Amino acid sequence: MPLQPERADKSYNNLKQHTMLGNIKFHNPTKLYFGKDSLRYLAKELQNYGPTVMLSYGGGSIKCNGIYDQVMQALREAGKTVIEDSGVTPNPTVEKLREGARRARQNAVDLILAVGGGSTIDYAKGVSASAYCDEDPWEKYYVHQENPTCKIIPVGNVLTMVGTGSEMNAGSVITNHAVHLKIGKVFGTQLMPHFAILNPEFTYSVPQYQMVAGFFDIMSHILEQYCSGTDDNTSDYIAEGLMRSLIASTRVAAKHPRDYEARSNIMWTATWALNTLIKCGKTQDWMVHMIGQSVGAYTDATHGMTLSAVSLPYYRHLLDAGLAKFRRLAVNVWNVVEEGKTDRQIAEEGLKAMEEWMKEIGVVLHLSELGVKPEMFDGIADGAFICEGGYKKLDHAEIVQILKESM
Ligand code: NZQ
Ligand code: ZN
Repeated sequence: MPLQPERADKSYNNLKQHTMLGNIKFHNPTKLYFGKDSLRYLAKELQNYGPTVMLSYGGGSIKCNGIYDQVMQALREAGKTVIEDSGVTPNPTVEKLREGARRARQNAVDLILAVGGGSTIDYAKGVSASAYCDEDPWEKYYVHQENPTCKIIPVGNVLTMVGTGSEMNAGSVITNHAVHLKIGKVFGTQLMPHFAILNPEFTYSVPQYQMVAGFFDIMSHILEQYCSGTDDNTSDYIAEGLMRSLIASTRVAAKHPRDYEARSNIMWTATWALNTLIKCGKTQDWMVHMIGQSVGAYTDATHGMTLSAVSLPYYRHLLDAGLAKFRRLAVNVWNVVEEGKTDRQIAEEGLKAMEEWMKEIGVVLHLSELGVKPEMFDGIADGAFICEGGYKKLDHAEIVQILKESM
């Protein structure tokens, strides 16, 4: 999966072995409740856990849109003692992680219930693995990418913002502003949420900027997995279907955010885009995320927008190295007509069509809009971990070049 792959050399051979549908272990234990009535199942789910629940949430949107009251009612009905844990910021910080871990342990929490977007759920997983960890979690999990050896606290979630897939995966991305690093850790299945409650209507109150950033995040997750390998792979066909659905639904939702059909399709697509299904048999790229996360470490910008700002220059840089796949993407996803064109022309038209869609939904296309300054380029490139599963292994100079072209 994504976020922070194992550092370079070691990972490459491992990843290569996963090309083509060879040996696959697929195990995703997250139970999904989807739809307008899905919160109804929360009280029942809560019966599976002990008496103390840490309710983690962000800056207060759930109090404005009424989700907090509904969740509290379910907690009361289940007779739980609630430890309130508010103030998880977008791009959650290592300081908040340490505070949450301390409180979870002090209160002998039986379940962490994350109510929010990817930031809150990522944070909850970090707390889950850190509460009983006697080492520094930032160093152990995020810098050194080690796995937990301590007791884990179960995590469940009520998703309020669509994009990251965190509701059904083991990813947890934490930012350490002091050292300008934003690092993701992909934990094992034990850190996957036990349950996820997905009500598309809960996402209606997400501000337009955040909403479309999430839309692009979904596209990026699919592309990061799709843009790798040269074999004929079922995962690519599934990815193409997800992208086609996403493009159609986001076109509607960007104009009519309360269109249930569109918002529910997008929510479902986001979950399946990054829950380990379409990575099967794929080496995976993830360089857009590595660059985007490093941009985030310097600017604290919205995750999806850091990706949208660098994606087109990145993919244009890769066009020759991955030409066959970009051609296929153009034809199968962006409906580019092939007749009378070279492979390169077709592939370029595909990226052009993607650019038009990005403009249509309204995502950021320039890093300068996110507060990036040329003097940050070297630091951002240094903070971007190099992945080798895509069509080209980038060096520092190439990343700087892509950053320049993204301004
Ligand atoms: O703070 P609150 O009140 O929750 O407000 C949030 C926040 O300001 C608001 N929001 C969420 N639901 C809302 C709402 N506002 C009104 N109504 C609602 N229903 O939206 C803002 C953004 O929320 P956030 O959780 O930060 O967004 P997102 O879901 O995009 O999460 C971003 C984080 O996830 C990480 C990113 O790096 C970033 O730190 N990622 C996690 C991944 C994973 N676990 O696999 C993969 C991704 O690639 C990504 O890296
Ligand atoms: Zn992402």
